[in-house]
Amino acid sequence: MGRIDRLLADMSLGEKIGQLNMAASYRAVTGPAAPDGLEEGVRSGRVGSVLNLWGSAEVHALQRLALEESRLRIPLLVGLDAMHGHRTIFPIPLAEACLFDPDTWRETARTTAAEAAADGVNLTFAPMVDVARDPRWGRIAESPGEDPWVASEFAVAKTRGFQGSDLRAAGSVAATTKHLGAYGAVTAGREYASVDVSERTLHEVHLPAFAAAVAAGTAAIMPAFVEIAGVPVTANGALLRDWLRGRCAFDGVVISDYNAIAELRAHGVAADTAEAAALALRAGIDIDMASETYVRGLPAALQRGLVGQAELEASVLRVLRLKERLGLLDDPYGRGTAAGAAMTARPLAREVARRAVVLLTQRRKVLPISADTRHIAVIGPLGSAPREMLGPWAAAGRPEETVTTLEGLRTALPHCRIEFSPGVATAAVDPHGIPAAIELCRTAQLVVLCVGEDASMSGEGGSRAELGLPGCQRALAEAVLDVGKPVIVLLSSGRPLALPWLFERADAVLATWFLGSEAGHAIADVLTGEFNPSGRLPVTWPRHVGQAPIFYGQRPSGRPAKAGERLSSTYLDVPATPQFPFGHGLSSSSFTLCDLRCAPHVLRATDSIEVSVGVRNDSASGGEATLFLFSSDPLASISRPLLELKAVRRIALAAGARGSVGWHLPVAALAFPGAQLAPVLEPGRFGIHVGQSADREQLLSCEIELTA
Ligand code: GLC
Repeated sequence: MGRIDRLLADMSLGEKIGQLNMAASYRAVTGPAAPDGLEEGVRSGRVGSVLNLWGSAEVHALQRLALEESRLRIPLLVGLDAMHGHRTIFPIPLAEACLFDPDTWRETARTTAAEAAADGVNLTFAPMVDVARDPRWGRIAESPGEDPWVASEFAVAKTRGFQGSDLRAAGSVAATTKHLGAYGAVTAGREYASVDVSERTLHEVHLPAFAAAVAAGTAAIMPAFVEIAGVPVTANGALLRDWLRGRCAFDGVVISDYNAIAELRAHGVAADTAEAAALALRAGIDIDMASETYVRGLPAALQRGLVGQAELEASVLRVLRLKERLGLLDDPYGRGTAAGAAMTARPLAREVARRAVVLLTQRRKVLPISADTRHIAVIGPLGSAPREMLGPWAAAGRPEETVTTLEGLRTALPHCRIEFSPGVATAAVDPHGIPAAIELCRTAQLVVLCVGEDASMSGEGGSRAELGLPGCQRALAEAVLDVGKPVIVLLSSGRPLALPWLFERADAVLATWFLGSEAGHAIADVLTGEFNPSGRLPVTWPRHVGQAPIFYGQRPSGRPAKAGERLSSTYLDVPATPQFPFGHGLSSSSFTLCDLRCAPHVLRATDSIEVSVGVRNDSASGGEATLFLFSSDPLASISRPLLELKAVRRIALAAGARGSVGWHLPVAALAFPGAQLAPVLEPGRFGIHVGQSADREQLLSCEIELTA
């Protein structure tokens, strides 16, 4: 009998349930008020893991309670949302997705794991890989965007980064891939609202990234708060047991979201705590985060025969196995250095941040800011806002260690007079500061207008029904534009913002998201030409909130959108096309694609397609092009999306240089979930398309034939 089987055999019922109980600590609050009594819970064995605690001394003190004062001396899992950094804060995931660079995604996760582990953390509630296509939903900020293939690549890269090659290593933490099941499809973008997607959409869009994370070895999975078609994921055996543990062969730990098991009663599917506990355990939830429903409800559930000892013990074994895989049973103090986590990666944070910036428009050549500029006005509430730059999930990040736009510009342009006025607050409707801001603009050569959202206006609980500038920032922006000086707009936000009036008037607009610890230096690098912007949008950018949800992978409709055609899939008052397509992003360079080749043209299911395309840098600036390889399946048993992303490649080219990019695309990649939702590969014609965005009018295309 192995060590963990012996531990299990030794456990009382209370100690078994304790291993499934994750209690909230105090250093961050990420849910409804947490029950107290943490230390006593650890001593008594009622608490087997903790979240929202970091710092070696604090973590080791709690581990010592478990190891020296509890009966079975089982160490604790210590979990934290190190979503996009720990002490070094990287750009929010939606911004990092703009790099389309799995190697970098993995590197930032590796760095984050090392810093979090230095603070005693051994499990993170990341990566978040929910496909998000509705910018009203605040958690789009935490997502890798709208595309299932990108979300899958992101899931794999982050899982491998957090966990490294050895989960026992002092610099590795267990990944918890979240939030299983279509959370990004909440009704009307409203947080925690019902999700009512088809089984097909669930399997085509929302599940692939979780299957990829499982294949990459994610140690844990966190289900979403929501119910899908009336069945809360927290109690969804079809999804957690049959699909996740059955079809995907996941043998890790399933950790509920914060208080989610207790909330089965609010969902209206559990009459009392015992029923809620039984539903969750039977569905496959191993750990109850912060609700104490297992502690308070499982004894009665077992007594009432709502759940069996076997299900309880299976969950306990999975939790003990994770603790063993993490090395906790051998070296419970192995994570957590005396000095704790330092900020170890400013250079990497700056590099990633500047690559995350997306140049959305440049109507007049105002970039890069010339070195002989002598007077700049930085205007707007986001110009000097260190806390906001860290984004909505920045647990151990410190605003005082964050470089603001104002600081970054002053450092980059030491001989330039750079004055600042916020003009207005981000959200308050109080325009009295606008005149003073306008006065600064009148004497400046150039205005850098910093507007957008506070970090709290996205992330969890951050749904917005509007996609405009909060407060009276529009009044400020229009007053600034009316002065007539060159205006560069920096948009800080956790989502695309529908600002056609701004894109029409400003000289240049950049999406700067929330770029993290090195935000100001990264922005200055782009504005001064130190770095040629290369970020590309991982989401489709709407003209109007009414277009949401909006994404490139639409199905064609029997009456495809046709401008001016009333009886087509469009609107009377807004074009059906986006403000900016998926993949959009300008730079100081301009690239032309040519000579797309696909071979062979007739293939069998086991073949691969060799795709190649020429790329030319037509500009006088070296830069990086991002090329997207899409497929289309114009005639199939199921109506297929107009485009499906299959691969991405970046290529750096010097001024005037030419290059080529190739892909080796297995025909199997053209499969899709058939009528029974199992992968099918149907003979017929397929389109292969390459472009710099999902704008179908700009794609190079060729055709291949799959024979039976
Ligand atoms: C929150 C979030 C989840 C997070 C958890 C712990 O409610 O939904 O993403 O990991 O609680 O903080």
